[in-house]
Parts: sequence; structure tokens; C-alpha cells
Amino acid sequence: MSNEPLMSLDEIRDRLDLGDTQMLEWLATRASLVREVARIKEAKGASLQAADREASMFARKQIQCRVLGLDFHYVAELVSLMIWHSKQIECDELGRDTFLDTNPVPPERLHSQLLELTAAEAPRYDEYCRGEDTDAVSSYIDRELEWIESASAEAPDRELALDLGCATGQVSELLQSRFERVRGFDVSPAMIDHARGRCDWNPGVGLEVRDLDAGIPAEDGTASFAVANFGAASELSPGLPRELARVLRPGGAALLSWYNRDALVNDWFYPWPATVHSHLNPHNDTLEVWSGESVYTIRARAMTVDEARGACGSAGLRFRLVGTYPTLQPILPAFVARSPRARALYETCRQLDDHLAAPGIDRGSFIIAVVSRPAD
Ligand SMILES: C[S@@+](CC[C@H](N)C(=O)[O-])C[C@H]1O[C@@H](n2cnc3c(N)ncnc32)[C@H](O)[C@@H]1O
Repeated sequence: MSNEPLMSLDEIRDRLDLGDTQMLEWLATRASLVREVARIKEAKGASLQAADREASMFARKQIQCRVLGLDFHYVAELVSLMIWHSKQIECDELGRDTFLDTNPVPPERLHSQLLELTAAEAPRYDEYCRGEDTDAVSSYIDRELEWIESASAEAPDRELALDLGCATGQVSELLQSRFERVRGFDVSPAMIDHARGRCDWNPGVGLEVRDLDAGIPAEDGTASFAVANFGAASELSPGLPRELARVLRPGGAALLSWYNRDALVNDWFYPWPATVHSHLNPHNDTLEVWSGESVYTIRARAMTVDEARGACGSAGLRFRLVGTYPTLQPILPAFVARSPRARALYETCRQLDDHLAAPGIDRGSFIIAVVSRPAD
């Protein structure tokens, strides 16, 4: 068999040039189709947001990549950039500032989407927090667990801790080593089911399916400490500070974290698959969460640091800002976190995030605060 190449280098280069030209022509056609789509959507009063379509597009591309022997991550980066440009084109065409929905989502829909999301995520939630490719989330959780541990030392005694929105119980597990009794609540039966099998729980731990929108199921002045972490304070009822002021005993403390309305991550819809695949929509207080091939819209009422401080102050709670965190990690392109060659950049961003977590900068994804009920 001859080792002669089928084509000369010049012929191969001509082919590549031709392919690139065809791609540009296709992108121009795509842009005019996108303009047409925007006009049709406007005429129908339909939303410019199309997360479900995008998620199924990614799923199809994943299959096509497998068939064609292409690296899906590389394709996902190209597709994300295409989607990003389409959104800019749609907004320009219609003279809008945002493609995000500005209409409120009915509360029943938010509730059913939360239950569906948590049912789908419960089996892989711990993996999401701790597994491979989850550095941005796990480093955040680690910081939060440290903050929870040090805030718990401010509790007046070791009697009762509440874990509000406990999911699979990672915080309850920490709390059981510090408090005689721990009560974890979550609206999701699937999450509580997984939480119960998490570890050998002490006899003083109870994990219950409860909707905290109906209030915190605890007697007045009984809790020494409480936690609503990982942005959970933004997902629970706006009456949460008032309820905390009711159930905390004098001198009792809580660690709360909210989605930060001023976060860098929310100022921009970045054109790449990021390390954390969810987007806040401050126009209607929702969070779009990508999970597998589906996208769920759940409630997340982001606050500014001043709003969080004000809400706690009006409920009679003292407010101490721990910081806002993280700032850069969630918006880094996933390939930076994944690529061993870009590791140095990722590590540098992590160190910068530690620095930026200091109060006063306030651009991180979550606001973390310790609140307390003044001692009588
Ligand atoms: C971001 S996760 C919280 C994470 C958890 N604390 C941890 O450390 O992993 C938010 C949790 O709050 C729960 N949740 C949201 N709204 C709720 C409500 N109204 N009542 C009770 N739990 C709720 C969700 O089901 C979800 O498990």
C-alpha cells in the first residue's frame, strides 16, 4: 500500500477554506432566520427565552457528537456562542434590553417545577456538590460549611438547631455533631428520602417534609441556631426573617444565604457553558436550572446586601454580613475548570474569589450573613 497522501497540503488548505466560507454563509443565513423568529415571537406575544429548546438541542448535539466522533465539550462551546449571538440579535431586532421573561410565573407552576427538579436531582445532588467537575460548587459548599461551623459557636446553647431547606442533609450532618437535637425540613419528599439514608443519624435528628412557606414548624423561642444556606433563604418565603425572629431563642443565631442581585454573574449572560448551569432572572424572581435534558424554573428572590440587611432589621434581627461569594468561579467557562492546562487560571480565580469575598465588594453570587435575635 502506498504511503502517498490523498491530497497535497495546498488542496487540504483549500478544502478547509471552503468549509470555513460555507460556515460563514450558514451563520449569515442563521442570523436572518433568528431575526425572523424574533418577529414571529413578538407577533405571537411569545417569550424570547427558549431554555427547553436549547436543552434538547444540547442533548441532540451530544448524540450527534458521539456518532461523528466529535468532542461534545468543544461543540457545546460553539453552540453556546451561537445561542448567545442569537439572543443578542433577537433583542436588537425588537429593541429590547433583555431576552429574559419579565412576566411573573404562577406560584403553582414554580412549586410543581421545584418538586420535579428536586425529584430529578435528589439521587445525584451529593454528586453535584462533591463529584468530579464540580469544583466551583464544592469549594463554595466547603466555605459555607466553615462559616456555618463558626456561626454555630455563637449559639447560646447546644440544644436545638434547624436546617431550613435541608436537601439531602449535608448541613444536618454537620449540625448533629454540635447540637443535641437537629430538625431538618425540606418541601421535597425525594430530598428527605435521600437525607434519611445519608448516614447513621443520632437519635436527636428528625428530617421532615415541610413547606416552609407556611412558616417554620417550631415553637416560639426554642431554636438555638438555624441555617438556610446555598441560596436557600432566597427560595423560602419572604417572611423568613420574621419567622426566624419568632423561633430563635434570645441570643439565638442563624446563618442565611441569599442569591445576590448585584452579583457579577447576573450582570451578563455569558457566551459559554459555565461551571454552574443555572441563571437568575431578576425580572421575575426566578432561577432557571438546567438538569440533564430539562430546564426547570424555580423561585429565587435575589436581594441586594442592603435589602437583606433591611429585611432582617425590620424583623428585629441583628445582621452581620460575612461576605458575598464566589465571584469568578461560577462564570468561568467549564473548559477552564476541566482542562488540566488551564488549572493555574482556575486556581488563581479561586484565590481571587477568597479575596473578593470580603464585605465591601459585594459582587459574589451569594450573600452570606449571620443574623441573631438580641438577648433579652
Ligand atoms: C439549594 S438547596 C439547599 C441546600 C442545602 N441546604 C444544602 O446544603 O445542600 C434548596 C433546598 O430548599 C428546598 N426548598 C425550597 N423551597 C422550600 C420550601 N418552601 N420549604 C421547604 N424547603 C424548600 C428545596 O427543595 C431544596 O432542597
